[in-house]
Amino acid sequence: MTAIECHYGDTILKVENVSVAYGDAPILRDLNLEIKDLIRPNYTQGQVVGLLGPSGIGKTTLFRLLAGVDKPDSGVIQIEKDCRLVERGMVGVVAQHYPLFAHRTVMGNLLIAGRRSGLSGSEAEAQSRAFLKRFGLEGQGSKYPAQLSGGQRQRVAIAQQFMCSDHFLLLDEPFTGLDLLAEERLCEFIVEMAQTNELKTFIIITHDITAALSICDTIWLMGRDRDAQGEVIPGARIQATYNLVERGIAWQKGITSQPEFLRLLGEIRAMFPRL
Ligand SMILES: Nc1ncnc2c1ncn2[C@@H]1O[C@H](COP(=O)(O)OP(=O)(O)OP(=O)(O)O)[C@@H](O)[C@H]1O
Ligand SMILES: [Mg+2]
Repeated sequence: MTAIECHYGDTILKVENVSVAYGDAPILRDLNLEIKDLIRPNYTQGQVVGLLGPSGIGKTTLFRLLAGVDKPDSGVIQIEKDCRLVERGMVGVVAQHYPLFAHRTVMGNLLIAGRRSGLSGSEAEAQSRAFLKRFGLEGQGSKYPAQLSGGQRQRVAIAQQFMCSDHFLLLDEPFTGLDLLAEERLCEFIVEMAQTNELKTFIIITHDITAALSICDTIWLMGRDRDAQGEVIPGARIQATYNLVERGIAWQKGITSQPEFLRLLGEIRAMFPRL
């Protein structure tokens, strides 16, 4: 497949020399990354970035920094459009463990999110109903979170964040626990949402490399460096960045069965033991 024409505009998010340690164990070390506005002629095209890496490498740690929940020991995380440092609440998050308000119904959880993002009561209600349908949750609106299955709870948490996030949405393991159809629907939804605003930006942490490659425009691979003797240096950084637009993989229907897709899938898998 041939690459779709696009170029890069302003920087949207920049992480510079960020380090974090728990006690004396470095988790992130001088980590740098940048997301730029993808400009695709004749399209409104947001950004979808996938963050891949082995378990325990520091993905959720980075997620918490990007969400403004934790502060780095050193370094800076900046949203460049308005030159603000990231603060809690600026970025929508779907965390690894799907927190919902336990004492509110599914509908109540969605309504709060809608009102928080400035929708009127009736707009929030219409939007909530549309999301319940979209996420296969019709008939679940009056239940409480404790009355839902794990996968249903997760879909409510995701719907809730789609309701109230502005431009940025971070998703930590959004596909875990979803059945095949729900995963497919969520992937389609992310792609669709990313085309609603030029500045929409999703960062998706996942172990599902196939799903990531099928919906992202960029993939970051997180891992640790090695010294000259081949010993691991503690503290993770971004080891590789894959531009899926240039490779002709992004925004292509039916890409998952194409040779270039399968080749990259194999290439990334082969990197894992060394990360
Ligand atoms: N509060 C904490 N105190 C001490 N160590 C921590 C704490 N939170 C995380 N860690 C350690 O930091 C490292 C990175 O954890 P993190 O949760 O970021 O990994 P991850 O890449 O998200 O893994 P997974 O894919 O399994 O979710 C791990 O070695 C973990 O044990
Ligand atoms: Mg994690």
